[in-house]
Amino acid sequence: MRPIGIDDIELATAHHVVDLSTLAEATGTDPNKFRLGLGQDQFSFPAPDEDAVTMGAAAAAPIIERCGTEGIRTLLFATESGIDQSKAAGISVHKLLGLPSQVRVTEFKEACFAGTAALQAAIGIVSRNPGERVLVIASDVARYELDSPGEPTQGAGAVAMLVSADPRLIEIEQVSGLFAADVDDFWRPNDSTTAIVDGGLSVTAYLDALSGAWDDLQEQGGPALAEIDRILYHQPFTKMAKKAQLHLGQHAGEELSCDLPEIGADGVARVGSQDAASADRQGAAGEAPGTPRDTGLATSTLYNRRLGNTYTASVFAALAALLDHDDDLEGRRIGFFSYGSGSASEFFTGRVLPGYASRSRRDDVAEALDARVPLSVEAYRALHSTVLGSADDVETPRVTSAPFRFAGVKGRARVYERS
Ligand code: HMG
Repeated sequence: MRPIGIDDIELATAHHVVDLSTLAEATGTDPNKFRLGLGQDQFSFPAPDEDAVTMGAAAAAPIIERCGTEGIRTLLFATESGIDQSKAAGISVHKLLGLPSQVRVTEFKEACFAGTAALQAAIGIVSRNPGERVLVIASDVARYELDSPGEPTQGAGAVAMLVSADPRLIEIEQVSGLFAADVDDFWRPNDSTTAIVDGGLSVTAYLDALSGAWDDLQEQGGPALAEIDRILYHQPFTKMAKKAQLHLGQHAGEELSCDLPEIGADGVARVGSQDAASADRQGAAGEAPGTPRDTGLATSTLYNRRLGNTYTASVFAALAALLDHDDDLEGRRIGFFSYGSGSASEFFTGRVLPGYASRSRRDDVAEALDARVPLSVEAYRALHSTVLGSADDVETPRVTSAPFRFAGVKGRARVYERS
């Protein structure tokens, strides 16, 4: 059977950034609560002319440039920041990217899990016809109420992936562990722009789902923990991945390293002597006997601690960080834990293919993260409180420097354009 998996991957984020040290100062919070307690340094925040559509299109555009459109007959858009109750956000992306008309476009929803659901559906489509390629886009704006415990975990970003037969990056393996449970830990009613969350419950629901999905993976004949070289988690805030790693190690009976990056005197997060913009990490090889096994936890958090929660894109942003910073991945098995509140979750695995390192996007991602325009807390909060309705025609101010923008509302419909 031909391998099927991720052939290309690209990350995009929003125009603005809020530094959590400024939020800490404005709210009289110890900055270490955010930096060490939550494992977050910053969060991306969209300009008024950005949303999940513009970020998703920005992530997908370089993939289309590199790989062309041949064989792409499906576009799956995963989001919980949907822009319409009926029309799939992917339809607007399809137009912005200039894709051919002969494409099946739809939207996937189940909180942060939807990106994984879309990836698995894409694999199913390619299994049926290996000549087809599927564009999967996971894009979200995570928004909580001001002054709520969730506020410092907000974020924005998108990951696009091209799924194909004979992929160049990762072959996704067949066995998955699944877990679903009806739990009111986090949700967003139709008339609310911010999520409602029971923070404590959400953390335990996530960990319960992790053991549930892990047990199912084992029952389905999936690999033992010792056979998984790197592990990626959904990262609503990166400390959650540390909690998950500790939980999984205890549950499956192996001591795994739970170290997050070290924070230098300059405030930059580093793995060993390295940071998101410099050289590669050493990988798990060369660990002294008896030390907890390093499964790439710290490396996988390098992007998310600067992006904030990107909901559906989060576990794939962790993958992007790992691919960009770990030079010892060839042939290694990666475990992915995807959690979506509500809840649905999946533990699946994939093998990294030879040549992955030559496709590193590390410098581009570092440049994009550094290029974000900082917002003062006052300016961010004013933007946060601006809710654009659909009742009147409106033109958004021209702010973003991304390739696509949300131009406004006309006749109650959202209008998108190239910048
Ligand atoms: P909180 O008020 O920040 O909680 O809310 P806390 O007071 O317990 O502090 C958090 C941590 O900071 C604690 O460490 C403190 O000890 C530490 P922990 O016990 O967790 O190891 N701390 C400090 N550390 C160093 N220096 C200090 C200091 N002060 C305190 N000075 C909460 C935390 C997660 C509840 C909040 O951020 C929240 O509501 N977040 C939103 C919900 C969320 O992200 N849940 C995660 C699981 S659910 C999920 O992942 C799904 C989701 O992505 C949505 C989807 O599926 O679509 C959310």
